[in-house]
Amino acid sequence: MTATPKFCFVIHPLSLDDVARYEPGAAGKGAPIVRKIMEWMPPWAAVHVTGVRTPDGRETEGWFVTAPLLPEQMMEFPREEVYKRILRAIEIGVELGATIAGLGAFTGVVGDGGVTIAERSPIAVTTGNSLTIAAGIQSLFRGAHEMEIDPAEATAVVVGATGSIGSACARLIAKRVKHVILVARNNTRLAKFHDEIKDTLGCESSYTTDIGDAVRRAQLILTATSSTQDVIQPEDLQTGAVVCELSLPHDVSRRVALERPDVLVTEGGNMVVPGTPRFERVRQPGSEFDLNLPPRTALACMSETMVLALENRIENYTLGRGIELDRVIEIEEMATRCGFTLADMRAFDTAITPEKIAATRDAAAVRRAALRQAQGDTGAAQGDTGVAQGDTGVARGDTAVAQADAVRVAQA
Ligand SMILES: NC(=O)c1ccc[n+]([C@@H]2O[C@H](COP(=O)([O-])OP(=O)(O)OC[C@H]3O[C@@H](n4cnc5c(N)ncnc54)[C@H](OP(=O)(O)O)[C@@H]3O)[C@@H](O)[C@H]2O)c1
Repeated sequence: MTATPKFCFVIHPLSLDDVARYEPGAAGKGAPIVRKIMEWMPPWAAVHVTGVRTPDGRETEGWFVTAPLLPEQMMEFPREEVYKRILRAIEIGVELGATIAGLGAFTGVVGDGGVTIAERSPIAVTTGNSLTIAAGIQSLFRGAHEMEIDPAEATAVVVGATGSIGSACARLIAKRVKHVILVARNNTRLAKFHDEIKDTLGCESSYTTDIGDAVRRAQLILTATSSTQDVIQPEDLQTGAVVCELSLPHDVSRRVALERPDVLVTEGGNMVVPGTPRFERVRQPGSEFDLNLPPRTALACMSETMVLALENRIENYTLGRGIELDRVIEIEEMATRCGFTLADMRAFDTAITPEKIAATRDAAAVRRAALRQAQGDTGAAQGDTGVAQGDTGVARGDTAVAQADAVRVAQA
């Protein structure tokens, strides 16, 4: 029997807090010093992954190799310098025996989304975005189900709609909703993309660079941006809305957790890894690397790299910004065959329990009632189909009333 290929996956810190988790020695040092050190720090193998095993007994192992740059450094540094770091990280993986490499977070965003890296890499490369898209779609509609939103009656927003992940998500979401709104900053690219796809979507569609306006009109929101700042703010969200966040670093304001108990936010790209996966620090054998995720859980992009190794699909799999939907379907099938499943809901570093979901639904019902009362318009109730259609247009104006009410619900 031939041995299962090994993989490597390039990781990088998403924030200064992450730096301290990767390298505990950095904790307590000032941000400017840490940033400066990282400018000079070469990549290193940080994590040895073992115990990834399919239900039919196939097993792989691999390494997470750190390319130590923050997201903003990845975007600001000279492109060639960043590519050099990523390629050095892949070489370290090759030295350890990997034959396929995954590009984590901004290492798959920078430049042309992995195309140049793949051309220069000695081994096969994937961004992992196909499985991330599949997981994000599952996650968004799971959230809709939990919040009793009928997708066929809903408006959905994709923020980052011209990107690698967002453009495929927009096309897949459109198949199941009434209206899809595409959002990004570059209006020319948005208009071109919308023009290319609008006749194939099968639902109403529009586009805008005004995130707040789009979010105020939607019950379902998916974020897949390369922003290093928050893009979703609590005051824009409709009562009872679902936000599926794929972006890393996160781009949903933490204020949403505090101020909007009536909204369901869920990280969309987390998967449970089959077998008994261990993420062991290379420099401290025996100690587990903190991925800031529950046990046995990995990001979908990491999972895609593991699945390709397990399935012996040693090829450049997902690259660039025009991902074919067939690839998304294929990797989802392969992941299922290998025993990977969507992880339980989670947001803002906390698990979302069934009780929390029920409380979110209740808070939404209370807030809707408060909004209707504040409007003094009982007729609005007729328009409220359970997908908060009736809230459109009042969500912002009545934020103060609604927030006061939401806080009361949260405290109850
Ligand atoms: N959860 C996971 O497992 C996982 C896996 C892979 C990647 N990711 C994350 O997913 C995100 C997207 O990756 P990608 O490869 O699709 O990136 P990408 O191809 O570079 O696309 C980024 C999209 O975001 C838009 N954008 C950037 N800043 C924005 C802002 N401030 N407001 C609105 N739109 C903005 C861009 O358009 P404009 O420039 O026109 O605004 C573009 O449409 C990244 O955060 C990445 O780290 C997560």
